[in-house]
Amino acid sequence: MIKRIETLQDLRALVRQSERIGFVPTMGALHDGHLSLVRAAKEVCDTVIVSIFVNPTQFAPHEDFASYPRTVEKDCALLEAAGVTAVYMPPVSLMYPDGFATSITVDGVSRYLEGEFRPHFFQGVATVVAKLLLHVLPDKAFFGEKDFQQLQVIRRMVDDLNMPVEIVPVPTARDEYGLALSSRNAYLFPDHMIIARSLNKVLDAMIVDMQSGLSPKDVETRARDTLLKNGFDDVDYCTIRPCATLAPVSSYNMHEPHRALVAARIGTTRLIDNKPV
Ligand code: PAF
Repeated sequence: MIKRIETLQDLRALVRQSERIGFVPTMGALHDGHLSLVRAAKEVCDTVIVSIFVNPTQFAPHEDFASYPRTVEKDCALLEAAGVTAVYMPPVSLMYPDGFATSITVDGVSRYLEGEFRPHFFQGVATVVAKLLLHVLPDKAFFGEKDFQQLQVIRRMVDDLNMPVEIVPVPTARDEYGLALSSRNAYLFPDHMIIARSLNKVLDAMIVDMQSGLSPKDVETRARDTLLKNGFDDVDYCTIRPCATLAPVSSYNMHEPHRALVAARIGTTRLIDNKPV
């Protein structure tokens, strides 16, 4: 049976006797995307610890914290089959004890995109990830490129605070139609799937448009029109940004690495995806 750890004392006992710890933080509702992080961790680490904690502080009051899928038994079975050493499931009282008053704000890269549409989000993520890293004390921590901006925010935090951990990015896992795997795909009705599966093709088209010389404004207008025509109800953003800052640009500097990023809604389900340029 996989070790299930709920206290810091038990976790530290494991950490003390482990070498080369790989850490995969999750909010559960695991899918093959999470398992690809586990596989990446297992390749280079001796001990792999996965956390499951649905972090209340990264959800706004109107968001889906209460209904976020919780599938702990299935998750633990998947992690056991994947050869994970232990699953860490801290209670809310350990993560946010009474009187909790500390939070981490990462400026710069968190200002745009998700930061504009979910202003609470990155402070919640940075704070919980910092705590989890301090709990698990891993050598390497694995994050999916599916949440590219989150990855950049965490890299910034780890660099700025000289945290002794290597952040390892793992490419987005996709289904056979190219749809990025996400726990929130569970909210999609079958006819929504067809719409959702067009998202990654719009990203490809944006990259082609950029490379054929269209301006950022024209790339975005064309992508937004296509998304709405494909059946998305609303588009928060569809844009190509320099990876280093994720700040808006009026023209592309083709010598810099860029990322195409989209957030769009089908009904109440909000999907995000991105691809490297
Ligand atoms: O990407 C996620 O699942 C979450 O944002 C994370 C990193 C586990 C923090 O709660």
